[in-house]
Amino acid sequence: QSLEGTILAPTNAKAWGSGLLQWLEFTKLSGLSIQGSGTINGRGQQWWTYSDPNDDEDDDKQYNEELERMPRVKPTALRFYGSSNVVVAGIKIVNSSQCHLKFDNCQGVLVHDLTISSPENSLNTDGIHLQNSKDVSIHHTNLACGDDCISIQTGCSNIYIHNVNCGPGHGISIGGLGRDNTKACVSNVTVRDVNMFRTMTGVRIKTWQGGIGLVQDIRFSNIQVSEVQTPIMIDQFYCDKRTCTNQTSAVAVSGVQYENIRGTFTIKPLHFACSDSSPCSGITLTGVQLKPVQIAHYHLNNPFCWQAFGELFTPTIPPIACLQIGKPAGNNLQSYHDIC
Ligand SMILES: *[C@@H]1O[C@H](CO)[C@@H](O)[C@H](O)[C@H]1NC(C)=O
Ligand SMILES: *[C@@H]1O[C@H](CO)[C@@H](O)[C@H](O)[C@H]1NC(C)=O
Ligand SMILES: *[C@@H]1O[C@H](CO)[C@@H](O)[C@H](O)[C@H]1NC(C)=O
Repeated sequence: QSLEGTILAPTNAKAWGSGLLQWLEFTKLSGLSIQGSGTINGRGQQWWTYSDPNDDEDDDKQYNEELERMPRVKPTALRFYGSSNVVVAGIKIVNSSQCHLKFDNCQGVLVHDLTISSPENSLNTDGIHLQNSKDVSIHHTNLACGDDCISIQTGCSNIYIHNVNCGPGHGISIGGLGRDNTKACVSNVTVRDVNMFRTMTGVRIKTWQGGIGLVQDIRFSNIQVSEVQTPIMIDQFYCDKRTCTNQTSAVAVSGVQYENIRGTFTIKPLHFACSDSSPCSGITLTGVQLKPVQIAHYHLNNPFCWQAFGELFTPTIPPIACLQIGKPAGNNLQSYHDIC
């Protein structure tokens, strides 16, 4: 299908009824392709001032009484569900009220020459969201938004992302996985030749305490960062509420390669916070060169590691002394493999 011209989302509350999870949706199709130079404009400005109840269970949501007429549920602009061999190319998706483009339960997805844009302060506006999807390629795409440029959720494997620009936004993220003690499995993800400009994180893996499952076989290479707050992050204590309690189980993280991650950061070059019960293993770093934008005043911007194991294949800038060389003791990954 060809998309030229512009599709505009309605901005009056009545049109949305009691709320929709997605605005434009394609379900259970095979071989659908949407290409062209057209634009999908979600005109989401009215939704951005409060956060999504689905995204945030905090009681303390920002809430604007004047907008009460808009439904609380923010729609994703374009979603594909249960489909195979989907192509989305050339088009622009702008100012979605929530996520711009979502693939759920899809196999065989090709996204290229796409442009996604919404302002830095537009809450919850992920660029591309992948869930339970396999054999996905995203390339030559510009992503600027208020949340993750690309978010890879549970059930994803064989994901290949390259030649992508990201920023503003929160970077390219695997997770949050394992929320509410759920199982999460993600494997075989390659992200290469990416430019990040002024994003919150660069390449990130985030899991909630209490989940089960495994993230494995992940490669991040040739990532150029510029004024990124924290370019490299694994956070197994992910929590977007005020507090989350520590639990024994965790979604394990094993086999993560970082290669040629270069440029400047504003907060910390690297943050590996792994869980006590399932330390991160097989983290390898090659050609990492990250410099602070300003000289640190408080030694804040040293690398941080907790329960992170692996190897440094080359010296790094700054030196990363906190990575524990080798394998964690008594770590039985087999049980995690069996789960996934
Ligand atoms: C998207 O929203 C921003 C902020 O309201 C606005 O400045 C911009 O013009 C919008 N873009 C389009 C294409 O409507
Ligand atoms: C990993 O994913 C790539 C696509 O990015 C695919 O070509 C490759 O066959 C996959 N490897 C395995 C072991 O499935
Ligand atoms: C959870 O565990 C980590 C690592 O042991 C520790 O740094 C953190 O303070 C704990 N958090 C809570 C809320 O107990």
